[in-house]
Amino acid sequence: MSKGFSDILVQRLARARLVMVFTGAGVSAESGIATFRDPGGMWSKFKPEELANVNAFLNNPSLVQTWYKERKRVVTEAEPNAGHLAIAAFERDFLERGLEFAVVTQNVDNLHQRAGSKNVIELHGNLARNYCYECKRDASDEEMNTASDDEPVHCVQCSGLVRPDVVWFGEQLPYQSIEDAVDAARRASVCLCIGTSAVVYPAAQIPLMAGEEGAYVAEINIEPSAIAYQIDESIQGKSGEVLPALFEAYKEAVLSSNQSINLN
Ligand code: APR
Repeated sequence: MSKGFSDILVQRLARARLVMVFTGAGVSAESGIATFRDPGGMWSKFKPEELANVNAFLNNPSLVQTWYKERKRVVTEAEPNAGHLAIAAFERDFLERGLEFAVVTQNVDNLHQRAGSKNVIELHGNLARNYCYECKRDASDEEMNTASDDEPVHCVQCSGLVRPDVVWFGEQLPYQSIEDAVDAARRASVCLCIGTSAVVYPAAQIPLMAGEEGAYVAEINIEPSAIAYQIDESIQGKSGEVLPALFEAYKEAVLSSNQSINLN
């Protein structure tokens, strides 16, 4: 037992055919991006009811657009951390071995993709995209960057309001993302649940579903999440420290299992 994770987890990863990684804001904390519900987190400074729902947007589009413009600046200037990079390394190794790997994320910061992860399923959208609330036309960054406190950004095609492509409270999650996440949860042999408080549904149902379908579910979090008692293993630690160590242990386990096969 090193870095807080069990040998059972390492062996399950080494034998897995499909691993699903489910992530939340905590995986980006070491990149300098505030989480939502931790002390000093985003929702302790800002009111989600004033910023992260459609009515708030229609009532005060400038406020909401400039807030997301600032969030976008912060995540664009941030860099993927060792946790994001380890997840991308896991994916590469699984694909090289002809196996499957899926990253199901609640994050909208695009850091998994910037770290090199390919199969990223976005449950809550992505700050890198914007679209017109009326005609649904994709709106460019240049358009969104003109957002200011006194003049909201309007669609150049229909004059509708431009909004970030993120899922706000009270909105449906993207249909295809849910389909893909449920498929991964159903077929996963291991689910790593990383840096989420697991209090926001329906997203938090995904790791639980994986467990119900037989996957070994382990969480990595600086403190137990809301589902810690419903899963197989709860690892306390920073994801940027635990994940690189877990990847090394997994590599060793794969190597030694290959060596024992070759000896036979
Ligand atoms: N490593 C691992 N876990 C960490 C780290 C770290 N370095 N730092 C913080 N955490 C954990 C916290 O203990 C907490 O459990 O990350 C979790 C962050 O939880 P939230 O702030 O609630 O974020 P998240 O679970 O992603 O929120 C879900 O809520 O506000 C909405 O749409 C938003 O996608 C978001 C959703």
